[in-house]
Amino acid sequence: MSGSTIIPWVVGNWKMNPMQANSQQLIQDLKQQLKQNPISEQQCRIGIAPISIALLSVQQQLLDASCEILSVAQDLSRIAGTGAYTGEVSAELLKDSHIDYVLIGHSERREIFGDNVNVIQEKVKNALNAEMKIIYCVGESLEQREAGQAEQVVLQQICDIAALVKAEQWNNIIVAYEPIWAIGTGKTASPEDAQTMHAKIREGLSQITPLGAEIAILYGGSVKPENAAELAACADINGALVGGASLNAESFYQIAQAFAKSK
Ligand code: PGA
Repeated sequence: MSGSTIIPWVVGNWKMNPMQANSQQLIQDLKQQLKQNPISEQQCRIGIAPISIALLSVQQQLLDASCEILSVAQDLSRIAGTGAYTGEVSAELLKDSHIDYVLIGHSERREIFGDNVNVIQEKVKNALNAEMKIIYCVGESLEQREAGQAEQVVLQQICDIAALVKAEQWNNIIVAYEPIWAIGTGKTASPEDAQTMHAKIREGLSQITPLGAEIAILYGGSVKPENAAELAACADINGALVGGASLNAESFYQIAQAFAKSK
């Protein structure tokens, strides 16, 4: 038991997966797991971030799940509104489709797609203006960790958006700490290391906003059923952002169950 009053979150980040038939099966299987052994919204909030073209069909399929499962966008445009911007999906268009949450700052966006600080700030501004809620991802590389810069890097990433968020808008932000060296590698941060960073993030947030103690801070990076319970037992780990293991309904369900039970 962590003693935290924050309801945990477990969010599946499907990344650029899977094919349509598998996606439908995955949702069916997850709904089945939840029907057999329900998890209430007071125990754990669940979200799924599918590829953008699947957002609406996944949202539709989730309507009759035994608990509310939120659909989450993996990204949004740095451009707001509507207009001649081929290939883009704005915050307003996501909101118009009743998508309430969006991932911003995922390391794959930062590293592969050039989402630098300016781009991330534009995306955060757009999301908040459209009243979308944000899962803001932060995390250091292995090189930065080995150089003893992990804390500084992560706290700077929090500071990068601090000035953009109005006092009451902190209610609309979830932070996800994802050490880059742990993403998709099978290496998880030890619960102690993760907790230490989460406590630092909480301290940083509390200096920025009085809501700091209430902001959910998720851990991401090779979370699986085998390590979920010990991560969930840490005081400042309020959930998980799950990549690979979210592509298997049973694994994803077991992770949600671990967090639901621990708080
Ligand atoms: P992983 O991905 O669980 O496959 O490591 C986590 C993430 O990138 O959100």
